[in-house]
Amino acid sequence: MINKIVLVGLGYIGKVYLKLLNENPNWDLVGVYDIDQKLCKDLAAQYNLKAFSNLQEALDNVEVVAIATPGNTHFEIAKQAIINGRHVFIERPVTANIKEAKQLQSYINEAGVYFQVGHVERFNPAFIAAKPYLKDPQFIEVHRLAQYNPRGTDVSVVLDLMTHDLDLILSIVKANVKRISVSGCDLVSKTADIVNARIEFENGCVANITTNRMAFKNTRKFRVFTKDQFVSINLLDKITEVVKLKNAPLNSKNLVIDPGNGQSKKEVIFEHPIILPTNAINEELNALHDCINSNKKTIVGIDEAIRVLELATEIEEKLKL
Ligand SMILES: NC(=O)c1ccc[n+]([C@@H]2O[C@H](COP(=O)([O-])OP(=O)(O)OC[C@H]3O[C@@H](n4cnc5c(N)ncnc54)[C@H](O)[C@@H]3O)[C@@H](O)[C@H]2O)c1
Repeated sequence: MINKIVLVGLGYIGKVYLKLLNENPNWDLVGVYDIDQKLCKDLAAQYNLKAFSNLQEALDNVEVVAIATPGNTHFEIAKQAIINGRHVFIERPVTANIKEAKQLQSYINEAGVYFQVGHVERFNPAFIAAKPYLKDPQFIEVHRLAQYNPRGTDVSVVLDLMTHDLDLILSIVKANVKRISVSGCDLVSKTADIVNARIEFENGCVANITTNRMAFKNTRKFRVFTKDQFVSINLLDKITEVVKLKNAPLNSKNLVIDPGNGQSKKEVIFEHPIILPTNAINEELNALHDCINSNKKTIVGIDEAIRVLELATEIEEKLKL
C-alpha cells in the first residue's frame, strides 16, 4: 500500500528526505511544511507538492509525518502528530532530553502509532552485512572521526555523533551497562569535541568508543571481537571483513597460527559478506513503511531511542571538562 506522508523541516537533512521521499514508490509525498514559509513554498513549487501553512493542516492531509526539524522542536511536533493518530519518522536525537522522550513514549503507547527514530547507521549496508556475525560480542572498538563542521556543535560530540555508535552497540550487546569511564576535551566549541568512553556491560563485554569532530579526515570504523572471530565494519566506505580462526588442517593453504603449549594450530579465514548498494536513509523510510503495512515493531523505536539518550546523558554527565 502507498501511504500519504508529509515532510516537516526542509533544512540540510530535510532536503535529502525531500528528494528520496519524492522518488520512493512506497510513499505519496503529499506536501511539505517549514516555519520558513518562503523556503516551504519555493521547494513545494520545485517538486510540485502542496506547501502547508501550519502543522495541523499538514497532519490533516496524511497518515505519516517525517520530522527533520532541529532537535529542540521535535517534542512539540511529534506530540501533535501522535495525538492526531499519525505515524512518525523523526530525526535523531529523538528529543532534547529524556523527560520529553518518556512523555512521547506514553503518547505513542496510548495512540498505538508507529514511531521510528532516524538512527540511520542501523540501515548502513556494511552493518547489515555484518549483523549475522555479531552475536555475543566480547570487545567493541569504535572510531568515528569527522572533519570540523559548525553544524551540530551547539551540543557535545556525544549527542551530535557518538549516539550513532551507542545505538549500534546497544543493538548488539544484550546486557545492561555496569560501568562507564569517560574522558574528553573541548578544542573549539563550548562543548566537548573529542570524547572517549569505555562502557563495561554486565556480561563482560567492553565497548571502547572514540568520537572526534576535529579530525583532518573522516573515519567511521566499528570493530567487533567475538570468541573466535573479528569483524571489521567500515561504515564510511561500506566494507565489511570477517576474520575467523579455525582448527587448521595439516595442508592448510591459509595463514596458520601456532598458539604453542601443544594447542592445535589455527588457520585464519577471511570472509567478505556481500554489501548491497542500498541508500541507508531510503532503507529506514522503507522499514517504517513495512512496519506500518505488516504490523511489525519498528526497528529503532522510542524504547531504543530512550536507551541511547540515557546512555549518552550518562556519558555527558561523566565528562569533566
Ligand atoms: N545535518 C545533518 O547532517 C544531520 C545528520 C543527522 C541528523 N540530523 C538531524 O536532523 C535534524 C535537522 O537537522 P538539519 O541539519 O537539517 O537542520 P537545519 O537547521 O538545516 O534545518 C531545520 C529546518 O527546520 C525548520 N524548522 C525549525 N523549527 C521548525 C518548526 N517548529 N516547524 C517546522 N519547521 C521548523 C527550519 O526552518 C529549517 O528549515 C536535527 O534533529 C539533526 O540533529 C542532521
